[in-house]
Amino acid sequence: MAKSVRNKSSLWFSDGCLFLGGAFSALLLVWGFWSFIAPIPITDPNFDSVSTKLKTLKNPRTVPSTVICSTSAAETTTVPNLRHDPPEATFYDDPETSYTLDKPMKNWDEKRQEWLNRHPSFSAGAKSRILLVTGSQPTPCKNPIGDHLLLRFFKNKVDYCRLHGYDIFYNNALLQPKMHTYWAKYPVVRAAMMAHPEAEWIWWVDSDALFTDMEFKLPLNRYKNHNLIVHGWPTLIHEAKSWTGLNAGVFLIRNCQWSLDFMDVWASMGPQTPSYEKWGEKLRTTFKDKAFPESDDQTGLAYLIAVEKEKWADRIYLESEYYFEGYWKEIVETYENITDKYHEVERKVRSLRRRHAEKVSESYGAVREPYVMVAGSGRGSWRRPFITHFTGCQPCSGNHNAMYSPDACWNGMNKALIFADNQVLRKFGYVHPDLQDNSVSPIPFDYPA
Ligand SMILES: *[C@@H]1O[C@H](CO)[C@@H](O)[C@H](O)[C@H]1NC(C)=O
Repeated sequence: MAKSVRNKSSLWFSDGCLFLGGAFSALLLVWGFWSFIAPIPITDPNFDSVSTKLKTLKNPRTVPSTVICSTSAAETTTVPNLRHDPPEATFYDDPETSYTLDKPMKNWDEKRQEWLNRHPSFSAGAKSRILLVTGSQPTPCKNPIGDHLLLRFFKNKVDYCRLHGYDIFYNNALLQPKMHTYWAKYPVVRAAMMAHPEAEWIWWVDSDALFTDMEFKLPLNRYKNHNLIVHGWPTLIHEAKSWTGLNAGVFLIRNCQWSLDFMDVWASMGPQTPSYEKWGEKLRTTFKDKAFPESDDQTGLAYLIAVEKEKWADRIYLESEYYFEGYWKEIVETYENITDKYHEVERKVRSLRRRHAEKVSESYGAVREPYVMVAGSGRGSWRRPFITHFTGCQPCSGNHNAMYSPDACWNGMNKALIFADNQVLRKFGYVHPDLQDNSVSPIPFDYPA
């Protein structure tokens, strides 16, 4: 078996080299010319198509579109074209179009569609395209280990995005100086919608939240009739009138006119407006358990759902079936047992122990799905929680809520970050054997049989 594989690949290798020998001077010409316009990486989609054309020109036999000996790439026609922006005017060319929140956007759906029509390589697949947006303050953290923690929280988001092919934007500029703390994300989300018309969804994830199931994917199908998805419970908002009936630290918002209109109304409760104090009072009268007098975005959202129900609620999905974001206190103690449960499954299912390239990880997530689905999800389940959110721990400032001991917060975060990193490092051949300890060991073959 091993022998025939080697034979095949060396045959292939020489085929590739034959082709390369034939086309190399032509390629060099193209290459040289293109590098002159701008330095381009070898993965540029245009380069692929040029090499494919060259291949058919030079070699009528069916040879993989080989650019370098022994690798081959399929013809890629739906790969986003990063080098094409036609001269026809779009919303970007309209001086009236503003990135800032104080100037409402009109007809965004048409404008975005027009841009997509002019950029067909982005139009394909646009419906499920996600841009993850996160960020932190412009200045160093007060907590001596704050910046280190934020770096690891960010690494975790980059890992998740790389595994699923999502783009990510980290912002650390205060775009509207008066919109500080939890209000700071709205100008960013608004600007991200305009900067990324190719993305259907903007996914805001707070800097103190992390992915603790690197395989789980958002069930976008479930949200096809909704524009804003948050973790929440309708009875807690509508009946109990609790400001913790939802959490605004993680939300998925559709890149469309509805969302822009909604954010205009939502953000109008913020500190940049003259009615900020009035909103603080109003929110506190409606949601009696609200802990502080200032108007905040989370209670603001609960207000719009509960009070302006007719206007907005039918497009807002309150997700409670899984940890769209989960409260760390009820989660961090479960990571060890969850790790054991997943190992138990892997000992039984050989295909889950198979080593593989990181790029094809999603397919192993799909294989695992039926085995972990039986666990249910959410509180008490041994399924990995999707997102763990360190609400109240304030890793950057260090001013954690007095309810928690500093050790509970720091140890919890460290454990969560290691638990998540284990799912990533596995594809690189290593594991942190102890969730309390950053050290690693190489993974033996057929782990964890
Ligand atoms: C983990 O599993 C052990 C053994 O089944 C059990 O005794 C323990 O309570 C579990 N821990 C948690 C936090 O669920």
